[in-house]
Amino acid sequence: MLAPLLFVWPLSIAFTHYFANNVANYPYDQALREHVAAIARQVKLVNGKPVLTLPASARALLRADETDSVYFHVVTRDGKFLAGDKDLPIPAQFTEKSAIPGEIYLRDAEFNGQDLRFAYTYLAETEMPKERWIVVEVAETTEKRNQLANKIVASVILPQFIIIPLAVMLVWFGLSRGLRPLTRLRKTIETRDPGDLSPIATRRVPEELEPLVEAFNEMLERMKKNVEAQQRFVADAAHQLRTPLTGLKTQAQFAIRESDPEALRHAMRQIATGVDRAGRLVNQLLTLARTEGGGEPAQQRHEPLDLALLIREVVEDWVMLAIEKGIDLGYESEGPAMIMGNVFLLRELARNLVDNALRYTPTGGHVTCRVLHNASTVVLEVEDDGVGISEDQAELVFERFYRVDDATTEGSGLGLAIVQEIAMQHDSKASLRPNPVGLGATARVVFAAWYPPPPPLPPPDDFSELYRQSPPLGP
Ligand SMILES: Nc1ncnc2c1ncn2[C@@H]1O[C@H](COP(=O)(O)OP(=O)(O)OP(=O)(O)O)[C@@H](O)[C@H]1O
Ligand SMILES: [Mg+2]
Repeated sequence: MLAPLLFVWPLSIAFTHYFANNVANYPYDQALREHVAAIARQVKLVNGKPVLTLPASARALLRADETDSVYFHVVTRDGKFLAGDKDLPIPAQFTEKSAIPGEIYLRDAEFNGQDLRFAYTYLAETEMPKERWIVVEVAETTEKRNQLANKIVASVILPQFIIIPLAVMLVWFGLSRGLRPLTRLRKTIETRDPGDLSPIATRRVPEELEPLVEAFNEMLERMKKNVEAQQRFVADAAHQLRTPLTGLKTQAQFAIRESDPEALRHAMRQIATGVDRAGRLVNQLLTLARTEGGGEPAQQRHEPLDLALLIREVVEDWVMLAIEKGIDLGYESEGPAMIMGNVFLLRELARNLVDNALRYTPTGGHVTCRVLHNASTVVLEVEDDGVGISEDQAELVFERFYRVDDATTEGSGLGLAIVQEIAMQHDSKASLRPNPVGLGATARVVFAAWYPPPPPLPPPDDFSELYRQSPPLGP
């Protein structure tokens, strides 16, 4: 606040000076007018010639001023000297357009390096040509005026020397008092435990800061949820990993004790399957963590791609497995379906959906992958006629490690969580619904269709030429 004050101060001095001058001029101008009127009364026009009857005492009175020099002269309007102080400069021309005899005018001029203030009036008889009018002028140096103006300026500025420091002190005091709650808030936050995510009390917070603290508390709340989710995830992951590892250990101990080569081979095969399963789980956990954390640069890059083509490739990869399982795996599309997305992530998404459909459909079932598209959306559907899903499980299955039938089917319950995460990164949401007719379930993800940006418009044709050539319209 000091900077603007320091800027405003010189400005206020300049203004004060200007107005002080105006004020100081006023009374002295009045006196000068009276002088002019008095002298003008002593000038008589006899047959158009001026006759000055100024008594010596009057002249002495005119000179009697203590501080300023006073001069006067009588001249004709076109600049001929008639009487008074000879040295006083006569202007080349008195220039008022609508001068009226008897009226008093004011002007400023310089004389011998001194500023002079003039008051003058015209004397004329009727029928007298304008340039021969008589001008009576009284001039005065401006010492008194300057002194008065300076006094006014001083009486305004001097108190400011006391008022401004006082104002600064008061502002200082007020601001530091006003900011005290802010300092207190800062200390509260600074001294907080790093792990403390509880909301900040808004009781003693100033009104203006309440929205900020509330927003901050909301952020804390979200962070708390996030941290809890992370902790739960780590705990779940550890738990999930422990199961296959315990299994592996049991199988290994069993194999050590085994001497029959056939039984040993069987145990080793089981160990290999167990390692596969654990490896898959670790891979899924990694995928999920990467997708959530934004992933590597290759996974972040979104580009226009044909979803129909991508799904077709994924389906081709799974055909052999489907034949092995005796499931009819089909693919339907309506031609290219462009969306904006990431190839790696979308392939992962599709793989998980097809894997689920094949896994939860018994031999002899059908699985169909479909890419439909209309003007604004591209829809991916994976439909099966397998065990299906109940309405109340449909949302739950997207949670991590959630499995409907953990006893009889195999899996870690991460597939749909990964699918949802990837869908969210494509501003979409995945759903798994029971089929409206018949058995099975349909997984569905809706994407926004992508269109190439329109080419730049060609420069407008010059139609005026065309109009000129066309024949005029007849009636
Ligand atoms: N097409 C489907 N038909 C019926 N149930 C399904 C289908 N897809 C998923 N589910 C159910 O949702 C649950 C969660 O699926 P999710 O893919 O997340 O895990 P998972 O398949 O059990 O294990 P994995 O992580 O190995 O994929 C499954 O256990 C299954 O019960
Ligand atoms: Mg799955």
